[in-house]
Amino acid sequence: MIDLYKRKINYLRISVTDLCNLRCKYCMPKKGIKKIDHSEILRLEEIEEITKVFVELGIDKIRITGGEPLVRRGIINLIEKIGKMDKVRDFALTTNGTLLKKYAKDLKMAGLNRVNISVDTLNVQKYREITRGGNLKDVIEGICEAKKVGLTPVKINTVLIGGFNEDEICDFVNLTKNEEIDVRFIELMPIGEAKDWSIDKFIPSSKVLEKINDLKEVKKNDLSSPADYYKIPNSKGKVGLINPISCKFCENCNRVRITCDGKLKLCLHSDEEIDLKTPLRKGENLKEIIINAINKKPKSHHLEDGEHIKRNMVAIGG
Ligand code: GTP
Ligand code: 5AD
Ligand code: SF4
Repeated sequence: MIDLYKRKINYLRISVTDLCNLRCKYCMPKKGIKKIDHSEILRLEEIEEITKVFVELGIDKIRITGGEPLVRRGIINLIEKIGKMDKVRDFALTTNGTLLKKYAKDLKMAGLNRVNISVDTLNVQKYREITRGGNLKDVIEGICEAKKVGLTPVKINTVLIGGFNEDEICDFVNLTKNEEIDVRFIELMPIGEAKDWSIDKFIPSSKVLEKINDLKEVKKNDLSSPADYYKIPNSKGKVGLINPISCKFCENCNRVRITCDGKLKLCLHSDEEIDLKTPLRKGENLKEIIINAINKKPKSHHLEDGEHIKRNMVAIGG
């Protein structure tokens, strides 16, 4: 599928649930968010059916997201179904890692290729604070298990938060020295709870380059990746900078998203959603609807003009 700006759309991110077993402060309010009614959530067979149509239309990279995708009952069955789709060459999942120790092996056996794991601090107390109760030990064990079973390359996603984890940049970078782990620093986006946060919490990812001076840029082999990669000489892993704010990557955007309630989102930062669930449940032809929708994919986001979307991040999956 090619959009109006000649971008090839080959990457589908599927949010399988709006539920999460953590409450990261930038993502969710303390009391959680209003749950989407169960009947509105796509059933696993419906997700499979929609995915099939997208794959027929040229999608070859799929990522499962949430909420926390591993809290969705039956998730391994869905992974197995998608894992069998021949045309999918890259099949990944983004997780907070807390349940990974339990599921890594099953995920690998079901055909998943790799995982990206969100970890915003390496300090046990601070982890408990930012996630409102999460246990860092579970995540570390999850990361080890993922590596052990070959869900690789393992990537860690770290959202940079002013006054919270700037002082840990060096520790995160050090993880890449001896382990085959990529660490990617993400600029905090004004979405979810973070849309009401003060400006001093937003740290440009260039801060990483200021702090670590032996990072050397690595040639980008996937232009559509939101991350720019660097490396400490002789290290095993890479350091990525994801700069949605300071350096937009919209020009090379190759992705669309399905929300857990069956809406097609053409851009993370646009409120426009195309309902796929209703036509699917009516037995209508989704192909045509999707092809027409792709033409509406916006050229770029406008966060710099104060654009905020209404839907919470947790139901989109980042
Ligand atoms: P790889 O395929 O491993 O490169 O993963 P990915 O970066 O596509 O996925 P991941 O779920 O790890 O996303 C990392 C971060 O990038 C998350 O914070 C996302 O919100 C952000 N991100 C991913 N896609 C987009 C996008 O299209 N627009 C913006 N603004 N941010 C995005
Ligand atoms: N800004 C940047 N990244 C965010 N994530 C969630 N909310 C935000 C935000 N406001 C990240 C999570 C996870 C990924 C899927 O999205 O930390 O790594
Ligand atoms: Fe859960 Fe991810 Fe949101 Fe944290 S950022 S509360 S792990 S969905």
